[in-house]
Amino acid sequence: MSDTAGESRTLWHGRITEAPADELMAFTVSLPFDRRLAGDDIEGSRAHVAMLASVGLLTEEERSLVMAALAQAEKELLAGTFVFQPTDEDIHTAIERRVTELAGPAGAKLHTGRSRNDQVALDLRLFVRREGRDLARRIHGLQLVLLERAVEMGDAYLPGYTHLQRAQPVLLAHHLLAHVWAFVRDVDRFGDALHRADVSPLGAGALAGSSLPLDPDKVAADLGFHARFQNSIDAVSDRDFVAELLFTCALTQIHLSRMGEEIVLWTSEEFGFARLADAYSTGSSMLPQKKNPDIAELARGKAGRLIGDLTGFLATLKGLPLAYNRDLQEDKEPLFDAFDTLALTLNAVTGMMSTVTFDVERMRKAADMPSSSATDLAEDLVRRGVPFRDAHGIVGSIVRQSLERGIPIDELVMTEPRLGPEALTHLEPGAAVRRRSSPGGAGPGPLAAQLVAVHDRLAAQKAWLGE
Ligand code: ARG
Repeated sequence: MSDTAGESRTLWHGRITEAPADELMAFTVSLPFDRRLAGDDIEGSRAHVAMLASVGLLTEEERSLVMAALAQAEKELLAGTFVFQPTDEDIHTAIERRVTELAGPAGAKLHTGRSRNDQVALDLRLFVRREGRDLARRIHGLQLVLLERAVEMGDAYLPGYTHLQRAQPVLLAHHLLAHVWAFVRDVDRFGDALHRADVSPLGAGALAGSSLPLDPDKVAADLGFHARFQNSIDAVSDRDFVAELLFTCALTQIHLSRMGEEIVLWTSEEFGFARLADAYSTGSSMLPQKKNPDIAELARGKAGRLIGDLTGFLATLKGLPLAYNRDLQEDKEPLFDAFDTLALTLNAVTGMMSTVTFDVERMRKAADMPSSSATDLAEDLVRRGVPFRDAHGIVGSIVRQSLERGIPIDELVMTEPRLGPEALTHLEPGAAVRRRSSPGGAGPGPLAAQLVAVHDRLAAQKAWLGE
């Protein structure tokens, strides 16, 4: 090490007297990314110090000295005046060093009964509690925009697709709400994952607890956790909450990606169903006529990255014996990346979806192809007692004849003895979507009920998310 200043000692200088090699420090430091946990580390340390004092491991005077030092370190960190040393391998080391500089021998008691193994697990749980709910709030914001757009679209309809082939007309509101339900499940998943993350690991020590009279219940309660760990080995080894949140982020991003893919299709000249606001589209550096859906594309593209964050971290976990292994330090970068990427994507996609305009005329024209009534014609036959399989055959042959011989479908329907002139009502514009009346279906009747259900779910989620 180039720097051998007095206070720049490693935490393990008692056992390992030689200064760490530059390459070792360069390879093992996590400070560049775990600085983000500084506030969580201070919060955890405050609870730890309060507990140490309550069980008599710190005197009242030591307690206030260490608390004051923590407050000073926090002030410096917030103001950006905190001076890091070359031997500060992570944020925990840096803060403990500074507290010891400020509080002297009392500061050196901060780490009593604690290991960085339970400390870092605690910090990360505090972090996800703080930022996880914020992500869920952003998803909720997008849900509100989609719901608003759905209501605004009234009885506009478009072709619904299967295999990307026109299948049956659906209300545009119904289509938009389909995306909302996916996001409803994402918010629920955040809630579930955050609940399982809400367990305090502090007091597990390095892996086995302590001979000192620690009180992990008090720490857990002070920090507002709903429970403390039951098994000290599990407490320092468990990163399930990271994996679960990475999955939750990845799946949310996949939902954004699928919606993005539709925006890419719908804004193409071929579909022409939607137009992006200028502020949410980009131009081409070479082709003056271009207006590109870059937000939608990057929402799609970045899904690959979040899937990578998840799978990479699962690979890190899979071979680890109990308890703590340094490999676990690899939990933070994918987690931070996933949270940041998802937050940025949600902001951009929410803006894009609140300003996109739908060409409902063009959607209607595409949906009003006579062939989109094929299912209704078959269902009409079913109501007259024809077995569905036969009805399917009759209507299928009408569509085939129309295509092969160029005869309009209505003529064929009229001359088909089992259908006849009354069946022509099915071919009227908009008839097919109005007839989608079964519960949860794509027509106006079930949509009204669905809107009530969506409102209820969003209100329940809002209650959990707070303001
Ligand atoms: N920076 C480490 C991490 O993120 C902190 C824990 C270090 N523990 C240890 N035994 N070296 O996991």
